[in-house]
Amino acid sequence: MAMDIVIVDSYKSMSIKAAEIIAEQVRKKNDTVLGLATGSTPEGMYACLIEMYDEKKIDFSAVVTFNLDEYIGLPPDHPQSYHHYMHRHFFDHVNVKAGNINIPHCEGRDPGSICREYERKIREAEGIDLQILGIGTNGHIGFNEPGEYLYTGTHLVELAEETIEANSRFFDSRGEVPEQAVTMGVGSIMGAARIVLLASGESKAEAVRKMCSGKVSTGHPASLLQLHRAVTVIADREAASLLKNNNPACQ
Ligand code: PGA
Repeated sequence: MAMDIVIVDSYKSMSIKAAEIIAEQVRKKNDTVLGLATGSTPEGMYACLIEMYDEKKIDFSAVVTFNLDEYIGLPPDHPQSYHHYMHRHFFDHVNVKAGNINIPHCEGRDPGSICREYERKIREAEGIDLQILGIGTNGHIGFNEPGEYLYTGTHLVELAEETIEANSRFFDSRGEVPEQAVTMGVGSIMGAARIVLLASGESKAEAVRKMCSGKVSTGHPASLLQLHRAVTVIADREAASLLKNNNPACQ
C-alpha cells in the first residue's frame, strides 16, 4: 500500500502534473466529482487548468466539485473566503456549472446543519472521484488539525495556532484570521477513489517526511493517507528533501 511519490523540479512542474492528472480524469469521466483545495499550493494548478480550458483541452460542463473547507465568519464575497478564492482562481474562468459547485456555506447558518448537508451532498454525488489536497506545516489536510482524535465527517473545527499563524499572511493582521472553520473530515477525504496531494517548498519538508514515515498518527493527519489505496504525492525537490529512499511509505 505504498504511496506513489512523484518528485518534480519546480512548483511549475508540480502544477502542470496535477492539472494533467485532473484533465485525464475528466476526459475519462466527464461527470467526475472533484474534491478541491485552496491555499497557495494549488494556485498554479488552477492556472494550468484554465490554460487547458482556453485551449479546449478540457471541458468542465458536467464536472461536480466539493471544496474541502471554508472559514466561519467570512461572508462569501470576503477576499479571503474560500468562496472568493475559488471564483477568483478557477470558477470564474472555466465552465463548471454554478449548480455543480459545492463549498461549505457557513454565513449565518448553524454549523451542525451545514456539515450534515455537506456529507449528504457528497453521498448523493456518489463520492469523490479525485481529491486534491495541500498539506499544512503541521500535517493538516483540509482543516483537520493534529490532535488526540480526528473527525470522520464534515465538522466544525477550531483552527490550530500554527494554521492561524500560517494563514495570517493573507490578512492585514493576525487578529483578522478566523479561528473556526468547517472542514471535510478525514473519512470524507479518505472516501475519495483517488487522492493527489501537492507539496511545495522547504517549509513542507518535515510535514511530507512525517506523512510518509510508515507510522500513522492523529498527531499528523496527513499520515493517514498511507492507509489509502491510491494516493499520489507530487512534491518539488524542496518539499521532498527529507524523504529517504528507505522510507517505508515511498518505495
Ligand atoms: P498552503 O496551505 O497551500 O497555503 O501552503 C496548505 C494547507 O494548509 O493545507
